[in-house]
Amino acid sequence: MTGLLFRSAGDVVSQLRRQRELTDNELAKEAGLRVGTLREIETGVPPTDDQIEKLGEALNVSPDAIRLVAGEFPEELHSELLENPNRALNVLQNAFDTEPTTSEEEVSLPDPVFTTGQGKLYNADCREILSELEDESFDLIFADPPFNLDKDYGEKNGDDLAEDEYLRWSTEWIDQAVDLLKPGGAFFLYNLPTWNTHFAHYISRRLNLRHWIAVDIKFGLPIPNRLYPSHYSLLYFVKGDSPKTFDPDRLPIDTCPHCGGEQNDYGGYKSKMNPKGVNLTDVWDDVPPVRHNKYLNRDANQLSLKLLHRVIGMASEEGDRVLDPFGGAGTTYAAAEIMGREWVGTELHDCSPIIERFENLDQDREYIAEIEEDLNLLFTEDALKNRMKYKDEFNFNFDDYDLSESMNGSVQQRLGSYEE
Ligand SMILES: C[S@@+](CC[C@H](N)C(=O)[O-])C[C@H]1O[C@@H](n2cnc3c(N)ncnc32)[C@H](O)[C@@H]1O
Repeated sequence: MTGLLFRSAGDVVSQLRRQRELTDNELAKEAGLRVGTLREIETGVPPTDDQIEKLGEALNVSPDAIRLVAGEFPEELHSELLENPNRALNVLQNAFDTEPTTSEEEVSLPDPVFTTGQGKLYNADCREILSELEDESFDLIFADPPFNLDKDYGEKNGDDLAEDEYLRWSTEWIDQAVDLLKPGGAFFLYNLPTWNTHFAHYISRRLNLRHWIAVDIKFGLPIPNRLYPSHYSLLYFVKGDSPKTFDPDRLPIDTCPHCGGEQNDYGGYKSKMNPKGVNLTDVWDDVPPVRHNKYLNRDANQLSLKLLHRVIGMASEEGDRVLDPFGGAGTTYAAAEIMGREWVGTELHDCSPIIERFENLDQDREYIAEIEEDLNLLFTEDALKNRMKYKDEFNFNFDDYDLSESMNGSVQQRLGSYEE
């Protein structure tokens, strides 16, 4: 037995097929099914009894064993098992002849291309590395895979697969990643909404979806005959019922960049607002694109450090282990390193942008320090300065809010310094 928690007959069939190193075409042929039908079953469509019989025969496994491992107890089997409970064990043991894996098992990983005291980066296909890492050993997994948009990420360009191939490739690494997540651990998947609709459904069979976070993107490209696409999807799952860590930062009140006036009415009394700021929502419209050369480590699709800082801060603690299978420019690794997490990364193509980034990590440290200055308070320093400037014109009253967290030292002293 592998120790995996299966959720559907399709999962069991898919796992057995891979164990036997059969392609879906080969298994479908052997079982006398259409390959499309097999793919549907493997992605969650419940098989008929006849289909399970055929697949069991082709995989040389009792159809009852497939049902049993998938958590289904047919009526007749249930009464048989009651008569002889040991049969359950026999059915399972006969069905799976693999040796048990233990967490202490020696793993055979290649040498990393780059290491720090906290992290390891492998220049390899993520699937080769993920299969060797220890199950349930990561607290947080963040993935920003290629979106299959035919982007040029490097010398080998595999970002233009047919839809079903891309989905199959994705479910392969996703299954591996889910195995690596600790109970209570968090899994984040950043992708186009159109792909994440598939993955939200697929991953929900093994993890619990906590949020579909819309990450607002400015300056996207309009698509003829469609609404202007303006968000990416960030799926946030947890393994089990509740997260080990959930500690989102609070944000300052959204203010006019010119006068510092409130952009939204947050309801209720201003003085009763949490002095640490406003609750984070599932729409993130404050994540800037990485355009400034100072922070742009390479050409293709680098995420903002602000996004990774938020994710890592929300769903992990210092000393926790973070995995990102798609290195790119190493934004996750830089954030994890600076925030005191251990990290493991893989990148199929050129790793030099990541290595160079780490040679000058102070730049990222400074940016994270800037981000942190503006968190968990009601007004940023800039907003307070602007409010001071326009206080008479717009009747801003500084006693309206509890500003204890927004200012170090005495409020009056600080306000006085803005007037000088
Ligand atoms: C969208 S980018 C990630 C960007 C990254 N989040 C950042 O902020 O810099 C996806 C990356 O995955 C890499 N990649 C594609 N297929 C891979 C695979 N099978 N294993 C590991 N990396 C892969 C690509 O080369 C590309 O650098």
